[in-house]
Amino acid sequence: MLAFLRIVWRFVRYLKPVWDKLLFLLALGQCGTAVRTVAVACTAKVVDLGLQAGNARAFYWWGGLVVALLVVSILQTYLAATARLYIKMRVDLRMKRDVFERLQQLSLRFQEARPVGENMFRVNYDTTAATDIAASTVPEGIENILNLITMGGVAFLLDPLLAGVIAIYLLSYYVYSHCVGTYWVRHNRRLRARAQDALAALQESLSAFCLSKALSRERSDRRRYFGRLALVLRSQLGFGISWSALNNGTLALQNILLQLAWVVMCGWFVVTERMTVGEYLAAAGLIQLTTTPFQALTLMIQRLRMNAVPGERLIETLDAHPEIADLPKARALDDVVGRLSFENVSFRYSPDGPEVIRNLSFAVEPGRKLAIVGPSGAGKSSIFNLLMRYYDPTAGRVLVEGMDLRSVKLESYRRHIAVVLQDNFLYSATIRDNILFGNPDASEAALDEAVERAGLPDLLRRLPQGLDTALKEGGNLSAGQKQRIALARAFVRDPKLLFLDEATASLDPVTEAEILAQLRLLEKGRTRIVISHNIASTRDADEILVMDQGRLVQRGAHADLLAHDGLYRRMWAAEERKGAGKHPAHRSPAVGTPS
Ligand SMILES: Nc1ncnc2c1ncn2[C@@H]1O[C@H](COP(=O)(O)OP(=O)(O)OP(=O)(O)O)[C@@H](O)[C@H]1O
Ligand SMILES: [Mg+2]
Repeated sequence: MLAFLRIVWRFVRYLKPVWDKLLFLLALGQCGTAVRTVAVACTAKVVDLGLQAGNARAFYWWGGLVVALLVVSILQTYLAATARLYIKMRVDLRMKRDVFERLQQLSLRFQEARPVGENMFRVNYDTTAATDIAASTVPEGIENILNLITMGGVAFLLDPLLAGVIAIYLLSYYVYSHCVGTYWVRHNRRLRARAQDALAALQESLSAFCLSKALSRERSDRRRYFGRLALVLRSQLGFGISWSALNNGTLALQNILLQLAWVVMCGWFVVTERMTVGEYLAAAGLIQLTTTPFQALTLMIQRLRMNAVPGERLIETLDAHPEIADLPKARALDDVVGRLSFENVSFRYSPDGPEVIRNLSFAVEPGRKLAIVGPSGAGKSSIFNLLMRYYDPTAGRVLVEGMDLRSVKLESYRRHIAVVLQDNFLYSATIRDNILFGNPDASEAALDEAVERAGLPDLLRRLPQGLDTALKEGGNLSAGQKQRIALARAFVRDPKLLFLDEATASLDPVTEAEILAQLRLLEKGRTRIVISHNIASTRDADEILVMDQGRLVQRGAHADLLAHDGLYRRMWAAEERKGAGKHPAHRSPAVGTPS
């Protein structure tokens, strides 16, 4: 019980912005109960003073009053439902916003540990469960407890024996719902876990749509998704059956026990003249008014048991500590000249994982170009991850302008960086917007210049809507065209620091040569770190770091490195053997010219 209270308490804060509506709802609930109780009392008068006494005037008067009270009660129900919906929507919106914000703050390590589908499930469905805890459980709990106390009191005052019978019914109702509710909750948990797995499979298959076709995995993807769906359906069946047992069983209890109490006991009261016929009829209404809040409370407890797990999971996400966050005394980085360095940096992705960077030190001066080359798995992209501060080093420091990255406000640092990767994600927006994501404040002239320099005019001329062509998520363009948009995005950003990770790796030799020429325009006057296993694109660097299995094995300028036997010369020889010597990129006039 304490665990439930802790969860409820955690989400109660979401009611703070809507406290006035909540008070209104509670007041409305009490008014409704009062109106319904008076209506029940008036029904007794209709029968006793009107029908039994044969008094038409009294019948019309009391009957009219009952009708008027019922109309007020309907209006109250409608108003209360609207207020409840409003509170629920506000809480849900805030909850989803908070979880999304927290997921954005959490580190890449946290995101990579979970499938995207699971995070989507958490944002969408776990918040709904938590909203139910805050927006329904709390007000309904208060409302029903108040109603139960008032109506229980009224029943006891009217007839303690009747109140005792109602109490016995309520006890058996609770025991039954608790037992069946246990199965219901268990089925619901299983259903959620399986629905989450199915969503993850669906998300993965749809994101790897082309790959799935290329590997002819359609059938196995289908089997995987349908297999998980079948499990969902099976859980749904169990859930439905237990829900029906909970619902119908309680209804049967209500019919048998309550009807028995009313017909037999109240009937006996009438025979022994302890009750009038009108009171006999009104007793049915009173029994209903007393038992309804208790039944609602019992169901609410079952719902709370059901929502506890997603609620707990949501608390876990909301309370997750953002591993990569600004220190309290972090300084904003305003003036950047572009000095970067690694100081004895070692790094592993997980505490028990292998060291992927070992004791690496280097420095890049403003406006210089540093290249990092090496075979696959050497740790090049891991260096990029540390430069972006997606991760913090396990040992050593990454410095910008001589300051530890951890002591700098991250957003102010990243504002000075532009990144061009092998596969650049394009948002579902127009080409113009996709470019302006690099710098939303860029002027129209800066945008035009960026488009020109990135070599986009040819493409734009072929598109009827030019810059305003809408792109699909991920981009309905060729790799080279996407790369040009990414370049234009970097141009409008006008960064001091430029990081390229295999920026031309997926392009054909001719497009690669063109993009490399445009990249050189972009590189002018900026500090650049270029990662590539294609030496042709990095040989003009001021310094080249040759990495192998996380270690720095050689460093120097292209000519010096070639002069010595080592990994670099072997890589170069291999590239030449591949015909890279005749590669258009090699023939580009700018190549080999130190910048
Ligand atoms: N997210 C990750 N979690 C755990 N290990 C990782 C992760 N990313 C990379 N690694 C490991 O770190 C090592 C270095 O990988 P990295 O991506 O830095 O290589 P790379 O030099 O960029 O290779 P490539 O040229 O193929 O891109 C590899 O052994 C890889 O398995
Ligand atoms: Mg890489």
